[in-house]
Amino acid sequence: MEINKIYKGDCNEIMQNEIDKESISLIFADPPYNLSGSSLNLKNNKTGGAFYKVNEDWDTFDDKEYLDFTKKWIKSAISTLKSNGSLYISCTQHNIGEILIVGKELGLKLNNILIWYKVNAMPNITKRTFTHSTEFVCWFVKGKNWVFNYETVKKINPNKTKTGADKQMRDFLDFITLPIVQGKERLRGDNGRALHPTQKPERLLELIIQASSNKGDIILDPFFGTGTTGVVAQRLQRKWIGIEINEKYIEMSKKRIKKEK
Ligand SMILES: C[S@@+](CC[C@H](N)C(=O)[O-])C[C@H]1O[C@@H](n2cnc3c(N)ncnc32)[C@H](O)[C@@H]1O
Repeated sequence: MEINKIYKGDCNEIMQNEIDKESISLIFADPPYNLSGSSLNLKNNKTGGAFYKVNEDWDTFDDKEYLDFTKKWIKSAISTLKSNGSLYISCTQHNIGEILIVGKELGLKLNNILIWYKVNAMPNITKRTFTHSTEFVCWFVKGKNWVFNYETVKKINPNKTKTGADKQMRDFLDFITLPIVQGKERLRGDNGRALHPTQKPERLLELIIQASSNKGDIILDPFFGTGTTGVVAQRLQRKWIGIEINEKYIEMSKKRIKKEK
């Protein structure tokens, strides 16, 4: 297997056939959430920029297909993880059910469900439900000796004591407040529209990678998209492997990582 490389293709096939068994310290997976199917564009929204609901072919499954897909890729991912490895899976209310059931069925231990509160979430235009402003990241581990760099995470905690010292983690919870990626960090095409509908914030990856891996470890992202995991892993002196099925996104992430280097 090659490191610091983007493999093109289906992540199941690649995890099964190309990635060494028990070689990966940390997997961050941001799979299709299966929330596509209807479009909603708030192109001229004045409160926080344009919003486009995710509506992609790669994100469209029926319920049975989605459960089978989830079982298949999580099983393949587990086979690549070291015995003390961690698997972080991002999701929303649309797919957290499948992820929790499959994780349990495949013998993983759930350590936390991180809650990402999106301060600039899509406005609630239907006014028929509470505003959807959160995503989740389920942190699963394979065995007992998982990595959690408590002292490092304490340093990341923006809250300090009156004397400026790092605080215990009582006020740095499994609750993360971060905007959806906008501004300079967002990759955009010539028309100003986002190049990828679900680019994750680098700050979220910085937290996860520093918490659950060490310098030199190999980090795998089976749904690489714009390469956020690779960019941050590179910055934090970790090795990385990305898998992505869509050539357009691969080109985009290659450019992004080159720029980071
Ligand atoms: C939710 S996005 C990931 C976004 C990424 N975290 C980022 O920050 O840009 C999911 C990605 O998985 C890719 N994908 C979907 N099915 C796949 C599969 N079976 N194997 C590999 N990649 C796949 C899609 O093309 C899409 O770019």
